[in-house]
Amino acid sequence: MSRRKHWESIYRTKGEGELSWHQDDPTLSLRLIRDVVGDDDRVIDVGGGTSTLGARLADDGRRKVVVVDLANAAIQRSRKRSGPGNHPVRWMRADITDVPRLGRFDVWHDRAVFHFLTNPGDRRAYVELARRTIPVGGHVILATFALDGPETCSGLDVRRYDGRRLESEFAPGFLLVREVREVHRTPWGVRQPFTYVVLRRVRNRARPTSPAQRADGGSGSRRSGPRLAARPLPPRRQRVRPVARAARHSLRGGPPAHEKSETARPGSSSVPVARSRRPPGPVPSRSSIPPSGI
Ligand SMILES: C[S@@+](CC[C@H](N)C(=O)[O-])C[C@H]1O[C@@H](n2cnc3c(N)ncnc32)[C@H](O)[C@@H]1O
Repeated sequence: MSRRKHWESIYRTKGEGELSWHQDDPTLSLRLIRDVVGDDDRVIDVGGGTSTLGARLADDGRRKVVVVDLANAAIQRSRKRSGPGNHPVRWMRADITDVPRLGRFDVWHDRAVFHFLTNPGDRRAYVELARRTIPVGGHVILATFALDGPETCSGLDVRRYDGRRLESEFAPGFLLVREVREVHRTPWGVRQPFTYVVLRRVRNRARPTSPAQRADGGSGSRRSGPRLAARPLPPRRQRVRPVARAARHSLRGGPPAHEKSETARPGSSSVPVARSRRPPGPVPSRSSIPPSGI
């Protein structure tokens, strides 16, 4: 059966309570998005299915939200739930491994889609599309089954990841800035460990080669290193923990208290981890990076 037929048939025959990935509220995804998104940023939810994420972002006042999914049946269901009228979410039916161009999006979210891509060519197409779509300074927020997560989902094989493996799938051009573990409970109570990562879009060159680039942590900003390093982060950006601080915490044996409490939720156990190759120093502000950097 083709990939599309598989997903169309799932959404035609199953209710929300029969979908293992169903969440009443996409709490962690929302939190990670809100921590990096700017006021006018464009957000895309890849393989959004019938998740309420797009609608929740629209409730935040966002007017530039697109949900893309392979299954028309999922899109129809989400549209119906949103009701008639001028709902700000736009839906698009497409196979994400077969889209030449999506336009520009500052935040790309994917929960439980990338892990279905067992074919290296599909993963390459996905990552290349993400590179073409997200400008330098933008973010990918990705959730896949963790290394100790299930080996299949919806009758399909999946690949399991930790942050380091996801970062290497997206290299070059993306830097791991945050990793959080969440244990999802299916509607029938089965535990499913997930790895969530936040990857920041940087210039394709993976490692800094000049003193100026080293000073900006390899972000690839066109501005000179020392000017960026001296520039303080706006408050919203500071909520994405600078990885250098995270690395110091992990050397001391654990993540900071706010990360622990962030993910200590009823029905899920979470151990957030953050790591990066970024050298110590402030993270460059996204607003200081020219939008057309790719
Ligand atoms: C496990 S569900 C996750 C849905 C949603 N992200 C969530 O967290 O509730 C996977 C979704 O990805 C969609 N999907 C699978 N392969 C896809 C592809 N190649 N392109 C676009 N969507 C895809 C499916 O139709 C399905 O809605």
